[in-house]
Amino acid sequence: MLELDYTNVLNDAVGSDGIFVNAFEQAAHSTGSLIETLESARMKGQLGFADLPFDEKPIKAVAAFARSHAYPTVLVLGIGGSALGPLALDAALARPHSKKRLVALDNIDPDFIRDTLDTLVPEDTIVNVIAKSGVTAETMATFAVVRAWLIQALGPTKTGDHIVVTTDPEKGDLLNIARMEKYPTFEIPSNVGGRFSVLTPVGTLPAALLGFNVEALMEGARRTAIQSRKPFTENPALVAAFIQFVLERERNKKILVLFPYSQSLWKFAFWFKQLWGESMGKKVDRKGREVHYGQTPTAALGVTDQHSQLQLFIEGPNDKSYLFWAVREFRNAIKIEHPYSSFDSMGYLQNQSIAVLFDAERRATEIAITEAGRPNATVYVDRIDEEGLGDLIMFSQYMTAYAGELYDINAFDQPGVEYGKKLTFAMMGRSGFEQFAGKIEATTRKERAIVR
Ligand code: PA5
Repeated sequence: MLELDYTNVLNDAVGSDGIFVNAFEQAAHSTGSLIETLESARMKGQLGFADLPFDEKPIKAVAAFARSHAYPTVLVLGIGGSALGPLALDAALARPHSKKRLVALDNIDPDFIRDTLDTLVPEDTIVNVIAKSGVTAETMATFAVVRAWLIQALGPTKTGDHIVVTTDPEKGDLLNIARMEKYPTFEIPSNVGGRFSVLTPVGTLPAALLGFNVEALMEGARRTAIQSRKPFTENPALVAAFIQFVLERERNKKILVLFPYSQSLWKFAFWFKQLWGESMGKKVDRKGREVHYGQTPTAALGVTDQHSQLQLFIEGPNDKSYLFWAVREFRNAIKIEHPYSSFDSMGYLQNQSIAVLFDAERRATEIAITEAGRPNATVYVDRIDEEGLGDLIMFSQYMTAYAGELYDINAFDQPGVEYGKKLTFAMMGRSGFEQFAGKIEATTRKERAIVR
């Protein structure tokens, strides 16, 4: 069961940069309406992500597809919400000796594409093209390159056996192409946006193809979805959203540091960065007022970043809030045994375990950050397994949705991202985007300020 420990957010732990305990007491009353708002949105089918783990059909469908497509390499073509989820699941759940591996072309650096394809064997590869919109330039371009790579190696007939598409069920050219070329297709429900889509086939299909237990992933997500509808005092996602809202608005914590003490959760932090950054970073609120909200998410890895960013965190500007992710039980403890007990720097480690040392380092960091007056909370997850990942995903998505309500913004759109996509289309001469041509021309003509 996922838990949130917010002791070190309270002002008796971190002083004036903390939150008074009575603010939590008040929030326990005032946030009832937020829970009702999200529940009513969910009942109307407007909170798509929250219902995904309760729908067995797509889960069974991806599992069945995975059984009949047992390729050693799963190549994901997608970007943003169409790649970060599969990458986070793979980084957390893959085991070193697994016979299957995930490769994602989530960037269009041409050298990266060529070098990656050079390491792959087309016969051993299933290509999952993922795009919610079905038009994203990077994904469509990479799809063209990879399709040609498959055809060259396998011929046009066999190529179709190696491609599966995940996209919107109603619109987008990727859907049209999939229909035309008869690629098997999985849908991202229309009421689920890109960065909230990891529990759709965006994440579950690659996960199933890699041999992960998708049912268990959904089991974790299911129980945390239920937990996230409860009143404030039993609802870690709502409390976490409230904490960041108060810290950002009233304590000027403009940066949120995601701090997993788990190598397995490192990519999960990158998934969370997109979720939090794109959802919270908004120019206008729901009333149309210009607000420029947003808390910048960044990531630090325990213990690695204790020897890198921690100095800044403890003694630098007090402009950050910290969210640790802690694991209660690791798969391995790893006993420390050695013949050097007479050495001070080794003796105290004798017969301890790496797991205990890891936990001590996390607690030491927590103490140091707290003593420095920096508010921090810790999310505890039982284990890094499918269920634990399901817990964390659903917690994070609900936390984001609640934060959207607290800020009174639309947490589910991304006009800034869409604008960048339109400018790219215009720059590349896609028809229908001519209105941006003037802007691009003006930028091109502009004299550059360059130093050599
Ligand atoms: O959250 C979002 O909607 C976006 O960041 C998308 O994930 C990203 O732009 C990729 O879009 P698509 O899946 O349509 O290729």
